[in-house]
Amino acid sequence: MAKIAIVYHSGYGHTAKVAEHVRIGAASVSGAEVILYKADDLTSPDAGPWDELAAADAIIFGAPTYMGSASAVFKQFMEASSKVWFSHGWKDKIAAGFTNSGSLYGDKSSTLQQFSTLAAQHGMIWTGTGMLPGYNASTKDINAVHNRASFTLGLGVQSLTDQPADQTPDRFDLETAEQFGHRVSEVTIRWVRGRT
Ligand SMILES: Cc1cc2nc3c(=O)[nH]c(=O)nc-3n(C[C@H](O)[C@H](O)[C@H](O)COP(=O)(O)O)c2cc1C
Repeated sequence: MAKIAIVYHSGYGHTAKVAEHVRIGAASVSGAEVILYKADDLTSPDAGPWDELAAADAIIFGAPTYMGSASAVFKQFMEASSKVWFSHGWKDKIAAGFTNSGSLYGDKSSTLQQFSTLAAQHGMIWTGTGMLPGYNASTKDINAVHNRASFTLGLGVQSLTDQPADQTPDRFDLETAEQFGHRVSEVTIRWVRGRT
């Protein structure tokens, strides 16, 4: 059994929806136990389910991109994780990350870079999307592709800013989130099996 934790923040519900679809994809792999955690509950190093994160084989980071950056609540979690860093408590766990924002690109790369750097500081093993570009040829329909914005470092999806979370992100982005969760789960299971 591989334990996968998803730690996410969502101000208005859109990234929460993405997190749920990452969870669905990750849990669809046999042998994976996947639990969602709110970063809001992990903003202090001395309170929250830190023991459960310590027991996880993989941690997936997720936050909306606000002003070209991970949201402030998620950053509080990042800083609170410094207590774990002192003992390298997350060393050799699998790590991955996802972000969601209003624009197709929207500077999401900055957020994914923050996540991958956080993972590197913790000595974790970063997993990208493993996906090919989505919309990169005239034969493709931008409204009907997975990995539309063609991110590789982590998952990047779009929530249109005038729609609530029950309408956006669209089906293709949510399916991409599931594919991403599935991949992280498969990578984690291989990693766990290889250790025993
Ligand atoms: C303070 C703030 C800053 C934002 N900055 C960006 C940005 O830099 N790029 C972008 O594409 N969208 C930006 N957005 C739009 C959000 O990323 C988008 O609405 C997202 O779906 C919010 O996710 P949430 O509902 O999980 O909070 C911003 C929204 C807010 C509230």
